[in-house]
Amino acid sequence: MSKDLPIGFFDSGIGGLSMLAAVMKRLPYERFVYFGDSAHAPYGTKSEQEVRELTMSAVQFLTKRGIKALVVACNTATSAGIGALRDRYDFPVIGIEPALKLAHDTRKEGLILVLATPLTVASEKYHSLFEQYGEHAITLPSPGLMDFVEREEMNSPALQQYLSDLFEPYKDQSIDAVVLGCTHYLFLKDAIASCLPKYTRLLDSNDGVARQLIRKLTEQNLLSDAKDAGYVDIISTGKAEKERQLHRILKVAQSLF
Ligand code: DGL
Repeated sequence: MSKDLPIGFFDSGIGGLSMLAAVMKRLPYERFVYFGDSAHAPYGTKSEQEVRELTMSAVQFLTKRGIKALVVACNTATSAGIGALRDRYDFPVIGIEPALKLAHDTRKEGLILVLATPLTVASEKYHSLFEQYGEHAITLPSPGLMDFVEREEMNSPALQQYLSDLFEPYKDQSIDAVVLGCTHYLFLKDAIASCLPKYTRLLDSNDGVARQLIRKLTEQNLLSDAKDAGYVDIISTGKAEKERQLHRILKVAQSLF
């Protein structure tokens, strides 16, 4: 395996760019290839079988181009297909799961609310995570929430309405943390925070994923030796406009994360 190959990133659309931006900051000399499966988004309201097949074909595409490691920058695809990917490929495969353990381990008092797609929260993987760390948590499947991000509606009245309906049942309770269990939701941080008390923490998994990726690359001696700035190739299964959107949103993500 050559250390000059790029690191592959994969998501159903825009969401994984938040994680790519976080990783690029830590690994400025690496090359990246980002695959956004916009033509088939959203994943979170599809069946596990469908998402597993979409994930496999996206990753096959990336491996044909050549990658030295893969980040599945999508909680939904990770919950549906990470096992099959790890069985098939021998390069490092890093997945993402909602940061419920972090929320549990750092909780002071009050509720933990987990926002994630319907498919993520229905998965076996999530059930076992919840069994271990869900004592004070409530799961809020959020169908349709990622679509606001894909439409770049990060602060519309319709989004505000969606969020206030979602949090309404908990308005009289203390909410210690909200777990952003879908990579798209990182782009909605401000809108989500505006519906919650100031003390509520918004938690994501970007830091853990970046550290895990660096650990695996280091262990397998796959970190690039390059000393010139790395770059990103972006591929979208959607129309040309979607690919342009991914380039544009990556710049936004780099200024945010
Ligand atoms: N960004 C994805 C996640 O982290 C999935 C969004 C979707 O396609 O429904 O779960």
